[in-house]
Amino acid sequence: ELSPIDQAKKKAAFACGKKYVENGCRLGVGSGSTVKFLVEYLKHAVKDGSLKDVVCVPTSYLTRRWLLDAGLTVTDLDVTPELDVCIDGADEVDPSFTCIKGGGGCLAREKIVQNAAKKFHVIADHSKEVKKLGENFKFVPIEVLPFAAQALLKTIPQSEGGSAELRMSKQVCGPAITDNNNFIIDWTFDKNRHGDWKEVQQRLANTPGIVETGLFIDVVESVFFAYDDGSVKEILK
Ligand code: A5P
Repeated sequence: ELSPIDQAKKKAAFACGKKYVENGCRLGVGSGSTVKFLVEYLKHAVKDGSLKDVVCVPTSYLTRRWLLDAGLTVTDLDVTPELDVCIDGADEVDPSFTCIKGGGGCLAREKIVQNAAKKFHVIADHSKEVKKLGENFKFVPIEVLPFAAQALLKTIPQSEGGSAELRMSKQVCGPAITDNNNFIIDWTFDKNRHGDWKEVQQRLANTPGIVETGLFIDVVESVFFAYDDGSVKEILK
């Protein structure tokens, strides 16, 4: 029996999959617990014959595993460098569709796969819908080269304010390691800061040692939010 929040995630994932994944689609598949329901949708749709010839590019080790276990066709950007659609979850989405992603640590591959796709759709439960970034999720995950991590822990708060922490693994006694063998710095920002996310993104992207940030700006086509009453709302750009 699914909890109300999981039921909501499932509804959002199924609604988005039904609307935007067509026969022959080259699909980027994001990461996280909401995307797990998208994989479930794809599995059912392929099994009952309503969806054919979909090829999937996963954004993480775990998503790849789920897709393979579901019997779906998995490929990568070497084989399929251009994608039609990418569908992913998010940690927060503001009214202008700026998203924070990377709670699960897959932000770099998620952004690369998103960027390879013509259209990007987000699926999320209503807790991710915020007026201002930082309402629920207090930080921006940033993937960094291990060589640069200690220096960046000092310089990121100096240039951007707030505080920065190296994300530690919950399983082993050391830093969390990404699919790209990098570290993650979680940058906790001042919640009163104005919406200057584009400038923040530019500065961070230009900083040596930073591989990618969890800020997704001006890339979302639509967001499917799922609510506790069982309804799903698609918000278009
Ligand atoms: C993974 O790195 C994230 O960007 C996920 O997309 C995000 O954390 C959403 O995950 P849930 O669907 O589990 O909330």
